[in-house]
Amino acid sequence: MDLSCENTQSEYIVVKAENSGVQVIGMTRGQDTRPHHTEALDKGEVLVMQFTDKTSLIKIKGNAKIYTKFGIVESEKVSTK
Ligand code: TRP
Repeated sequence: MDLSCENTQSEYIVVKAENSGVQVIGMTRGQDTRPHHTEALDKGEVLVMQFTDKTSLIKIKGNAKIYTKFGIVESEKVSTK
C-alpha cells in the first residue's frame, strides 16, 4: 500500500469483542463491494485497524464495541427466535 496515505486511510479504529465469535469483515474499495477478509475475535480480544486502499467498509457481526473518533458504537447480535 502507498504509505503516503490519504486522510481516510490514516485513522485507527478499535474493535473490542464482547463475546466470542465476533466477525470483522473487510469489504473491498472500488466499484465492487464484496467481502475479502474475515477476522474472528474471541471475547475480550481487540483489533486495532485502519481502512486501506483495499478496504473501504467493514461489517461487524456479533457483540462488539467500536471505538472511533466519532465515539463508541456497540454492535449487537439479535436473536431471531
Ligand atoms: N466498494 C465501495 C466503495 O469503495 C464500498 C462503499 C464505500 C460503499 N462507501 C459506500 C457502498 C457507501 C455503499 C455505500 O465505494
